[in-house]
Amino acid sequence: MTGEIDWENLSFSYIKTDYNVRCYYRDGKWGKLETSSSETINLHMSATCLHYGQESFEGLKAFKGKDGKTRIFRLDENARRMQNSAKGILMEPVPEEIFTEAVKKAVKLNERFIPPYGTGGTLYIRPLLIGSGPKIGVAPSDEYLFLVFVTPVGPYFKEGFKPTSLLITRKYDRAAPRGTGNIKVGGNYAASLPSGKMAAENGYSAVLYLDSCEKKYIDECGPANFFGIKNSTYITPESSSILPSITNKSLMQLAKDIGLKTERRQIPIDELETFDEAGACGTAAVISPIGRIDDPEENKSYIYSKDGKPGPVCEKLFNKLQAIQYGDETDNHGWITIVE
Ligand code: PLP
Ligand code: COI
Repeated sequence: MTGEIDWENLSFSYIKTDYNVRCYYRDGKWGKLETSSSETINLHMSATCLHYGQESFEGLKAFKGKDGKTRIFRLDENARRMQNSAKGILMEPVPEEIFTEAVKKAVKLNERFIPPYGTGGTLYIRPLLIGSGPKIGVAPSDEYLFLVFVTPVGPYFKEGFKPTSLLITRKYDRAAPRGTGNIKVGGNYAASLPSGKMAAENGYSAVLYLDSCEKKYIDECGPANFFGIKNSTYITPESSSILPSITNKSLMQLAKDIGLKTERRQIPIDELETFDEAGACGTAAVISPIGRIDDPEENKSYIYSKDGKPGPVCEKLFNKLQAIQYGDETDNHGWITIVE
């Protein structure tokens, strides 16, 4: 069946694989990992995930190296972020050992779906935690399902590593300052659908959100963090309503490694004019260089690429990150888990 997969031309969409891994929290404890070949789950119609949004997900990737080894990038960080998301909406956090074992198992069982080295594809890993117990009043569930499935993917933005365009609008907010923007819960993504549709209909790959309170500072994109480059400095927003991106954290380290300064601070919208390069970064997006940002409500455009090529710093960071992920370069930071 994998013979039918066109590894070189994968998009970011769901392809069925062989197995997923599940673990249930019932009677105050987590059970054993279970393997399933079913794509569906049996859920109570009054489960809290369906009514009150008790749902969190993660996204990480496995890479097939030239040496035939399978590498998972920053597994521990994703495990910890999911615990933080769970706490944020009163779900039972998944112990790190269960998260780690489930992810490794899901990757290993679906090894034949890991895109071969050199095709540009990766195996996307999607851990999911949902409140599965019935409640009709607004309250946290007593039961949870943790599930990990995988699917082979290509680039999230159709341009891949070519400059993409973003839209600024003040008509929508993604998340409130003291809300759930800093954790990875489904409601944030539901809230981003209308503005995402507006962006897509106007030819943009995503919205670049401003802070919801003052509409003065850059927050992030729907599926990725933002960074700008100027004066040999990598600058990325500080905000209480953005997801702490593990890719962004890694790029800050790599930026330091190649001799750049780094700053995490508020970025006023006017500062967009001063960047030499800009990018969107995330597990799915990797680095998506930003070619232009349009702000039609203010009649402004910020252009970072006129020739359809990424800037030199974006290119350097992208190559370095991918080299570590695919195992072409030594992992000096302990970011890689090899799946034996
Ligand atoms: N911001 C949002 C809203 C996201 O959904 C993601 C994806 O996970 C990111 C940023 C990037 O985070 P990471 O690099 O950890 O994938
Ligand atoms: C990721 O980059 O893993 C994400 O979760 C982004 C998106 C697919 C929602």
